[in-house]
Formats: sequence, structure tokens, C-alpha cells
Amino acid sequence: TQHLLGIKDISKKDIEIILSTAHQFKEVLQRPVKKVPSLRDLTVVNLFFENSTRTRMSFELAEKRLSADTLNFSAAASSVKKGETLLDTVNNILSMKVDMVVMRHSASGAPHFLAKHINAAIINAGDGINEHPTQALLDALSMTEKFNKLEGLKVAIIGDVMHSRVALSNIYLLKKMGAEVMVAGPPTLIPKYMGQALDVRVEYNLKKALAWCDVANVLRIQLERQNQPLFSSLREYNLAYGVSRKLLESLDKEIVIMHPGPINRGVELDSDVADGPFSIILNQVENGVAVRMAALYLYSGKDISPS
Ligand code: CP
Repeated sequence: TQHLLGIKDISKKDIEIILSTAHQFKEVLQRPVKKVPSLRDLTVVNLFFENSTRTRMSFELAEKRLSADTLNFSAAASSVKKGETLLDTVNNILSMKVDMVVMRHSASGAPHFLAKHINAAIINAGDGINEHPTQALLDALSMTEKFNKLEGLKVAIIGDVMHSRVALSNIYLLKKMGAEVMVAGPPTLIPKYMGQALDVRVEYNLKKALAWCDVANVLRIQLERQNQPLFSSLREYNLAYGVSRKLLESLDKEIVIMHPGPINRGVELDSDVADGPFSIILNQVENGVAVRMAALYLYSGKDISPS
């Protein structure tokens, strides 16, 4: 496929190729000179219609490490504010001889729509509540580094599953790679159909979910996507579903803690867990650069060795 729109559309083999290429790029990033010429003469636009820190900066850094030219577009500071459409915006940017589009949008399916109308390769950097494929890939690389495999790994995805593109991309990826997946959280944040539709376990008791898993991937409560409150208060959410050190210490095992960021500290995750010895949250962020280098390189259509 020409585009990386979602994990749903790609095969186990595709995932393995992206992860092994990311692993090679990670080795490149340990060298004194981190820059390679792989995407020299390629121009990439980072088209962000929604806020981002990690995804946007790691795509930009990945492009720079690959020697691509980069353009950064932020909807808030653009002519979108004067009413210009998505398609007009992209066609105008592409007419400046831009080769590739990295795109984040609040509308689920926005990059899929664009893919039908433009010739440039698109990488989805998060579309609404649909998918965030490079996040799932960097999560997979981080888990593989920790456990040497994904097959058979027990992963609990905890919290605001309903509004989470990170959850959906992780579920697709982990199932394809043979991991066991559970979603856990309050019933108001876990759609009833999810367990059956996606073939994942559902658990409404946080302690039971933590007792089952090897890895807890804790999600951000996405208040910006909730039209009406789905729990009574953040304090009560923390009491019932916040991952705390006390709760982890009550288990007779150690589990790896992940979070895609940004963290609502003291809501879904307490600071002493986020910053504690079992957290790999900053490793996830580090791996984002190598994974995005791999995605850009593989979907650019360029056939030049990563090294
Ligand atoms: N994980 C993630 O997508 O973070 P940003 O929204 O900061 O890019």
C-alpha cells in the first residue's frame, strides 16, 4: 500500500518489516552522526489540524535525521481559519512540489478521504477516534525491547478506550502479532460491542486487570472528546481507575507501565508510577523517532538502504 492510514489495513509481515527497519534506524541514532541520506531530495509536510507535542516533533526529527526537507503546517495559524477546505489546503501545499504528507486531524477518516484525492503518500499521525498507527508501532517496538516478543504477551489497555485511537491501533497490532489483549476501565468508557467486535477481553475491575497483565498501557482521559461527563469527577475516576503505586504494590508481580502521553497526572496515572522503575513511558517517546523514520522511509517509495 502507498499510504500508512491504519494498522487495520496492514499485514503482520508489514508490521514486522516496519519494526525491523525501526530497529536498524535505532542503531543509526546511537551513532555520533545520526543523520543518513535516505530521504535526501524528498520534501515532507507535517499537516497538523490537532495539537501535538510527541508525534509532531518526532516526525519532524525523523525527517531531519533522514535528510528530508520538512514543512510544518499548523491549522490554527493557517488559512483554514479563513475557511479554506482540507483538500484545497493540501493541493496548494502539494503544488509547491511536496512529496509526502504526515497528517493529524480531529475527524476520523480524514486521511482516508485525502488518500482518494491526492497522489502523494500519506502517513496518518492520528485521525479522530479512529487510528494512530505510528503510536501502536512505537508501543510495539518498546514492548518487544522489554520482552523480546509480542506473541503471548498479556497487554491490558486501561481507561478511556472509547475515545482512543491509540487503543484501536494497539488492539489491531497486538492481535495480529499474537498478543493477548484486555480492555479495562469504567463501563461508560468501554463500548459494549468492543469485546466481541474486536475479540478482546473486557474487565471493569482495575485490580483484576492489573493482576492479569504483563503490561498496562494506561490511556489519557480525553475530556476534549466527551460531549457529556462520563464519570462524576476526576477525583472519583482516580479513586476507582487511577493506577497508583499502592495498587501495584498489592499485586504479587511486577508489570510494565506504558502511557502514550500527554499524562493527566493524578487522574489515570499517579506520578510515582509514571516516574517509577517499571515505567517505560520515555522509552516509548524515544522509540517514536526510529519508528517514524522507518514509516517515512518505507512509505516514501525510495529504494535506498537505511544505513
Ligand atoms: N502520543 C501522542 O500522540 O502525543 P501527542 O498528542 O503529543 O502527539
